[in-house]
Amino acid sequence: MLQFRDVCASYEDSQILFDLSFEVEEGSVTTLLGKNGMGKTTTIRTLFGLTDRIGGDIYLEGDRINGVPTHEIAKRGVALVPEGRQVFPTLTVMENLLATARNGCDGLEEVFDLFPRLAERKGSFGNLLSGGEQQMLAIGRALLTQPRFLILDEATEGLAPAVRREIWGALKRLKDRNLTILVIDKSLKPLCKLGDRHHVIRKGEIAWTGPSEVLADADSEARRHLSL
Ligand SMILES: Nc1ncnc2c1ncn2[C@@H]1O[C@H](COP(=O)(O)OP(=O)(O)O)[C@@H](O)[C@H]1O
Ligand SMILES: [Mg+2]
Repeated sequence: MLQFRDVCASYEDSQILFDLSFEVEEGSVTTLLGKNGMGKTTTIRTLFGLTDRIGGDIYLEGDRINGVPTHEIAKRGVALVPEGRQVFPTLTVMENLLATARNGCDGLEEVFDLFPRLAERKGSFGNLLSGGEQQMLAIGRALLTQPRFLILDEATEGLAPAVRREIWGALKRLKDRNLTILVIDKSLKPLCKLGDRHHVIRKGEIAWTGPSEVLADADSEARRHLSL
């Protein structure tokens, strides 16, 4: 689905990504791990053409997409649930969902089935939702673009354990429907359960790559990079 090959990227004068290479297999759940400030969000922004890519190549389903504009990447079926959720505060849940929907209400029932809470709060304004509801809304909004590849940046950050479990459960259901997913998160236990392949980013480089069985091992090298 996605391949980064020796990607270097910067914000103006400061280089953040250094020869970053990793892949996301179609139909898999892949994770990007790493402490704060290591370059995870920058990696996603680079995929969407929002940083200065100063080296390397990015491939989406085999096509090189260097320099392809952001909206075009979205049109190719890549949806992002951004860090910080970014729901529209003065739109209702329903309006938020439909604002970015690709085919009107297509898929709305599935989103409500995935997150019944959103159906209950259809008429509530974005700014009146709890953090968990906002996160569900952000995911629902991304799903209504009918993506083939869903990316979530810190989707469970700051949420209560019960809400987190609900989000992990929803992602499992999406995986079972064969959606390709890239997750950035800090919750190793659910990531080991859901994920197929994991990448640890350290100072803008891939420091470790491996499967869940190894990441789940408390003595694994991955944990050292994460300082756990
Ligand atoms: N818009 C920006 N302009 C300049 N530097 C930035 C910008 N956004 C992030 N950075 C820097 O890039 C580095 C990586 O940040 P980021 O990708 O957000 O990390 P992560 O998502 O892993 O926490 C940090 O040192 C951060 O300060
Ligand atoms: Mg980040």
